[in-house]
This record gives sequence, structure tokens and C-alpha cells, in this order.
Amino acid sequence: MTQSHWLASASTQAESFDRLFLGLSIFSGLIILLVAALLIGFSIRFRSGSKATRHNVPGLHRREIEIGWIAATAFAALFIFWWATSLNLQFQEPPDGSIEIHVTAKQWMWKASHENGARELGTLHVPVGQPVKLYLESQDVIHSFFVPAFRLKQDVVPGRTIIAWFKATEPGTYELLCAEYCGTGHSRMRGEVVVMTPDDFARWLGDQSEGSTLVAAGRDLFTSVGCSGCHAPASAVHAPDLNGLYGREVPLADGRTITADAAYLRDSILLPRRDVVAGYEPIMPDFAKLLDEDEVEALVAYIRSLGDNDQ
Ligand code: CUA
Repeated sequence: MTQSHWLASASTQAESFDRLFLGLSIFSGLIILLVAALLIGFSIRFRSGSKATRHNVPGLHRREIEIGWIAATAFAALFIFWWATSLNLQFQEPPDGSIEIHVTAKQWMWKASHENGARELGTLHVPVGQPVKLYLESQDVIHSFFVPAFRLKQDVVPGRTIIAWFKATEPGTYELLCAEYCGTGHSRMRGEVVVMTPDDFARWLGDQSEGSTLVAAGRDLFTSVGCSGCHAPASAVHAPDLNGLYGREVPLADGRTITADAAYLRDSILLPRRDVVAGYEPIMPDFAKLLDEDEVEALVAYIRSLGDNDQ
């Protein structure tokens, strides 16, 4: 069963767990049918006014019957236990030679970094047909890494590194969700897993020079942490436009002039009230507590790239 019509099935786990689910459904369905048939049959046979005998019900306490049904149900329960547990154990231990990816969860985004240092935000690129081992970490609260198409759902707990793995079977783009309530942005904490052919993946990974990844991460952050709310050119709030800012001389409110270099951008994000641009109110909130080092670096890289485009 590679494809069920309501939910894509795109990993080896998905196939195994779907088979287990189908097995359990058939087994429970048969029991429901048996009980329902007996219920209906007896209701008709022993309806009020029927001539069926109501005494001397034969043989229900015969020893063989007792032993027979207890043994049969015990065997069925053990079989199901063995089936489910062996699958669980099998998908606990990542196979040797897995690709390793570090995934960090934080309110409210997924960050991934690859073995060659490439990083991505909100998206996870992986090759098809190769086991992928994830090191899951949380920077704040409990999140849960959930890819429905892979039937993979793993809690991510702060202070621990949790290992999970999967092997994608079908190239495509699949939803990545957070499945543990983690604050007001929980429902927005989603992303994508992009499954590529091994060649495409190798090419993609090779193309991820550190700079371009940082810029892309910065661009995403610019929207997700709210910079674009005030700094977008069309914004209603009066805040400096950042296009072409990098490298320019900026007049400050206290009469000094400063060059908009990386250090200035960095300070302006972390301590926005220190060097206020002439003609603007000091209304920007401090981001020092909201952003970590990587994120500030990414934002600065993005704002730098805005400068390059415009000159
Ligand atoms: Cu992260 Cu819910």
C-alpha cells in the first residue's frame, strides 16, 4: 500500500504502519461483525412471543470452549503486540549510513542544519530512498515534529537531543507540522519537507553556499519576527526603509552620522534606541531577548543583500 486516498504515504514507516492499521481495522471489523450478527440473530430468535426454547441452554460452560476462546484471544492479543512492538523497535534505531540533519524547534519555527553547514528555515530538504537521521532539539518549550505523510510524530523536548529517522519513498513536498501546543503561534509553526531525487539533493546541497542560505533565512525571519510590519516600503508605520541602506551614511537624531555597516545593523536590531535615525521616533522594540545569535546574523545578511540589489 503506497498510496491511500486520503493521506499520502511517503516513507517506509508509513507503509509499515498503514499495514498495521489496516490489519487492526480488519481484525476489529470482523469482531464487530460477529458481535453484531449474534446480537441481531438472537434478537430475532428470542423476540417476545417467539417459540424458541429459553431453558436448558446447552454447553456454554464446557471446558473446551472456555480454553478455546481464552487461548484464541490471548494469541490474537500477543500477535498484535508482537506486530506493533517489532515495528516500533525497528523504527527506533536509525540504520548505519544515515544522512544526519540537526533540527531545532523554537517558538515558532523549524530550523535545520545539514552536514555541510547548509541551513534552512521552515523547510527540510532530503533525498528519496536514503535513511535520514534527525537530531531534534528545542530551544524553549516542548514541540512535536510531525510529518503526516511519513507517519512520523516525535516530541521535541528542551534540554534533550532526541533521535528520529525516516526513509522517504516518494519525491514530493510534504507538510511539516508542530503537534504539541507550544504557545500562541503553535498553529503557524509549520513547514515543508521536500523530498528530492539523490542527484537533485546533491545539487541542491552543493548550491547552498553559506551566504545564500543566510540571506534566505534572514528574509524569512524578516517577516516571521515582524520586521516587515514596519520596515516594508508600503508599511503604515513610520520606520526607515531598508532598501539600499547597507554601506550608506546615515544621519542620526543626535546630529552624528554613522555608516550603515554590519555592526551598525546588528546594534540597531539589538539596541534600537542607541543610534536613532534623524526624523524617526525611537519606537522600535528591543530584539535582544527575542533573537539568538544565528538569527541576528541572518537578518544582517538579508539587509545587506537589500543594499546590493539597489546599487
Ligand atoms: Cu511548536 Cu506547537
